[in-house]
Amino acid sequence: MSDTRFKVSPGGQLTGRLRVPGDKSISHRSIMLGSLANGVTEVSGFLEGADSLATLQAFRAMGVEVTGPDNGHVTIQGVGLRGLQAPAQALDLGNSGTSMRLMSGLLAGQSFDVTLTGDASLSSRPMQRVVEPLSRMGAHITTTHAGTAPLVIRGGEVLHGIDYAMPIASAQVKSCLLLAGLYADGTTCITEPAPTRDHTERMLSGMGYPLRSESGRVCLEGGHRLNAIAIDVPTDISSAAFFLAGACIAPGSDLVLEHVGMNPTRTGVLTILQQMGAAIEVSNRRDVGGEPVADLHVHPAELKGIEIDPALVPLAIDEFPALFVAAACARGRTVLTGAEELRVKESDRIQVMADGLQQLGIDATPTHDGMIIVGGSLTAGRVDSHGDHRIAMAFAMAALRSQGEIEILDCENVNTSFPGFADLAAQTGLSIVSGGP
Ligand code: S3P
Repeated sequence: MSDTRFKVSPGGQLTGRLRVPGDKSISHRSIMLGSLANGVTEVSGFLEGADSLATLQAFRAMGVEVTGPDNGHVTIQGVGLRGLQAPAQALDLGNSGTSMRLMSGLLAGQSFDVTLTGDASLSSRPMQRVVEPLSRMGAHITTTHAGTAPLVIRGGEVLHGIDYAMPIASAQVKSCLLLAGLYADGTTCITEPAPTRDHTERMLSGMGYPLRSESGRVCLEGGHRLNAIAIDVPTDISSAAFFLAGACIAPGSDLVLEHVGMNPTRTGVLTILQQMGAAIEVSNRRDVGGEPVADLHVHPAELKGIEIDPALVPLAIDEFPALFVAAACARGRTVLTGAEELRVKESDRIQVMADGLQQLGIDATPTHDGMIIVGGSLTAGRVDSHGDHRIAMAFAMAALRSQGEIEILDCENVNTSFPGFADLAAQTGLSIVSGGP
C-alpha cells in the first residue's frame, strides 16, 4: 500500500475551463501500432501516466526508438510488423491491464520469448480470457495456476486465424486477438456480445490496414502492413467523468471540459448522467484523426436515481466509481446490474465502492453483478481506495457534497491514468491536499 493520501475538505464548486489528460486507451494503442508501423508516427496529446508509460518503456525495451514524451508529444520510429527485438529482461507492465492483455496478442506472434509481469493488482487479474483464445490460434503462453501473470510467451509459434465469439464484452480481449491476427495465417474474426470500445479498429484502419467491421463482428487477415500516421489523442472521457459527476453534484458549479473524446463506444457515462437528470451541453463536435471529440459544459442538477440499462455497462465500464458517487447524491434509488466485470478491474470496484460509500453513511448494497444505492447525505470519513486510481478520484469528488473531510488512502496509482489530478482538481475548486499520512 502506498502512503499517498488525499484529504479533501467539504463543499466547494467546480468552475472554469479545463482539459483533462489524454485518453489512456488511445495512448497505449498509439505506441503499440506506431511501433509496428512502417515510418514515423507523431503522437500529440499522449497521456503521460504510469500505465501508458509502461507500454512505451516496453516497446523501447524491444528496440523501438521512441522520443518523448515531451508535453504530450511522442515520436515513434516504427520498425514494421517484424522488426521488434527480444527484450533483455521481463517486461514489467506495472498496474496496466491494457498493456498486458493487448501486448500478449502481438507478442504471441514474435520470433522471441518474452515474459510479462505486473504489480500485485495486475498479478491477480484474470488473463485466461486472452490466453485461451490465443492458444486456440496456436500461441504458447503459460500463466500461474490461477490463470494470472507472469505470462511467459514462447516465440516462434505459427498463429492461425480463428473465428471467436467472446463470452464477455471486452475491448482488451478483442484488441488482443486483432493484434495476434496481424501475425496469423488466414482470417481472424471476433464477435462481441455487446459493443465495446473500437479504438484499435479505428487506428488500424487509419494506418491503412484492411479490416472488415460490421455490427458486432470484426475480421482481418494477417500479413498486411501498417503505415505511420499522425495521431492526435483526444482527452480521456474516463478522466473527465470525475469532473462531470463533481460539477453535477456541487451547487454553484459551472464547468467546461474541452476536447473530450466522444467515441460512441465510450459515452455511456453521459447517457447515464443525462438519464439521472444531469445538465450537460455538448458543443463544438468535431473529428480528430478518426476519433470524435467535443466540449462539455456542465451545470449542477437535481439528480434522480435510475435503473441503469445493462446495455450501457460496456459503454461506461470505467466510469462507475464516479457514477456511484453521483448516485449517492441523487434522490431515490439507483440500481446497477450486469456489471460483474467491475469485480475484476484494478480492484473489486463493486465491493470497494460499496465499503467506501457505507463508510460515508450511504445505503449502498453490493450485489454479485452491481450495486443498489439509495441517495442520501454523505458524512465525513476515511475510505480506502485499495490502490485503485478511479476509486480514489471518485471519492475525492464526493467531498463536494460531504458534511466533513473525506480522507482517501492509497492514492499513488492516480498517476497511472491522471497525473496532476489533485492540482487540476484544486485549481477547479476542490479543496484537496495530496500528501503523506
Ligand atoms: C480498455 C478496455 C476496458 C477498460 C480498460 C481499458 C481498453 O477493459 O476497462 O480500462 O483500452 O481496451 P475490458 O476490455 O477488460 O472491459
